[in-house]
Amino acid sequence: MATQEKPRLDPETARQVISPESYAEWDGILDTFDRLRAEAPVAWVDADDDAVHPPFWLVTRYDDVMRMSKDNTTFLNNPHSVVFSLTEGIEFAKAFSGGSEHMVASLVTFDAPIHMKYRKLTQEWFMPKNLRGVEDDIRAIANAAVDRLLAGGEEADFVKTVSAPYPLHVVMQILGVPEADEPRMLMLTQQLFGGSDEDLNQSGMKDLPPEAITQLVAGAVKDFEAYFAKLTAERRANPTEDVASTIANAVIDGEPLNDRDMMGYYIILAAAGHDTTSASTAGAMLALAQDPEQWARVRADRSLLPGIVEEAIRWTTPVQHFMRTAAEDTEIGGQPIARGDWLMMNYVAANHDPSVFDDPRKFDAARSPNRHLAFGAGAHQCLGLHLARLEMRILFETLLDRIATVELAGAPARSKSTFVGGLKTLPLRFTTA
Ligand code: HEM
Repeated sequence: MATQEKPRLDPETARQVISPESYAEWDGILDTFDRLRAEAPVAWVDADDDAVHPPFWLVTRYDDVMRMSKDNTTFLNNPHSVVFSLTEGIEFAKAFSGGSEHMVASLVTFDAPIHMKYRKLTQEWFMPKNLRGVEDDIRAIANAAVDRLLAGGEEADFVKTVSAPYPLHVVMQILGVPEADEPRMLMLTQQLFGGSDEDLNQSGMKDLPPEAITQLVAGAVKDFEAYFAKLTAERRANPTEDVASTIANAVIDGEPLNDRDMMGYYIILAAAGHDTTSASTAGAMLALAQDPEQWARVRADRSLLPGIVEEAIRWTTPVQHFMRTAAEDTEIGGQPIARGDWLMMNYVAANHDPSVFDDPRKFDAARSPNRHLAFGAGAHQCLGLHLARLEMRILFETLLDRIATVELAGAPARSKSTFVGGLKTLPLRFTTA
């Protein structure tokens, strides 16, 4: 299909939808999504500069994103499933990995039939029944996080003291990474996925040319590999109940996982498990701090907590997009799509679709049903969704027990990122119970 026939976004809007700054400012991008859902729900985004990103279709309506998520035959995760892969980055990854466009192979880069074989290895581990076995450990980590918060007096940045470190501790614990190694893991995941926020990304990547960034990321992958090769050897010699043991001893089609696939598994869990849950946790606290009466209500009636958790996940939508590639000529929302076209499922847009969510910008803990798309849907639906909800529930139970009142002590700020977003600061004032 010729490019000029496509409903192409004007250059300013095209820049806005992939710009990390837009997601930090938030309201402006929500306005744009409202306009696009109404006027061009499947719109062609062409940067006119392939060095930034290859062109793609931006899909903003809930029903279209849901249909794409569930049709894993027509819409594939391969060859690349997030937009922040710069074109040079993709070329570098091919050279680095011997042909693949991914620096690391992982669940989000696989399609059927291999995807399910890999997913099944740990799927049971992440089910609610099994997670009961780690509840006490999570509660201890939550209590330690609240100790830290209270230790600093009656004001603190909730992100730095609680919502950022807490999910990191949990995911590292389930992966079997000792606490002393956590800073190193954090550094590595930031190098891999830190995006462009200078406050969050300690690696100084934003000032580097794309080639230097890809080399830095490749270095991070190598460091990860070395780290987890050691952990694998330990878990093969002495298996425990943790996820690292499950992966280290996994067998697919009669063969143990090769090193690259095993590292990909560790990396996706380490990377997917912390920033995401941190963002929804901070979002829940922001909503409660903005409405102190809600804090009092849920302190008195804990049955309100699951609604708050679920709405916080929709309201914040930490994972802002995933990409798919059309396996064949098809259509979405009435728009013809050619085989090989790249498409962005924008979860922020879908979760603010007013045809599904009344008053979508409002935090409404009583929203029911709340069938948001923050965890995706279909074969790739978030593997850690039960864990994320459990972590949030346990943390807020602990906070509600120990904190009587909470309010904002300054302006919160969102991070600059096109992929995983959320609050980077949340200044709070509180009184203890
Ligand atoms: C996949 C969101 C927490 C592990 C995904 C996807 C989304 C997502 C949108 C892609 C779904 C799709 O393509 O249809 C979130 C959010 C979280 C969260 C919003 C927190 C509120 C976690 C946690 C873990 C985790 C705690 C594990 C430690 C994964 C994995 C995948 C995934 C392994 C890939 C699954 C696959 O491709 O089969 N997540 N996630 N996530 N998530 Fe999460």
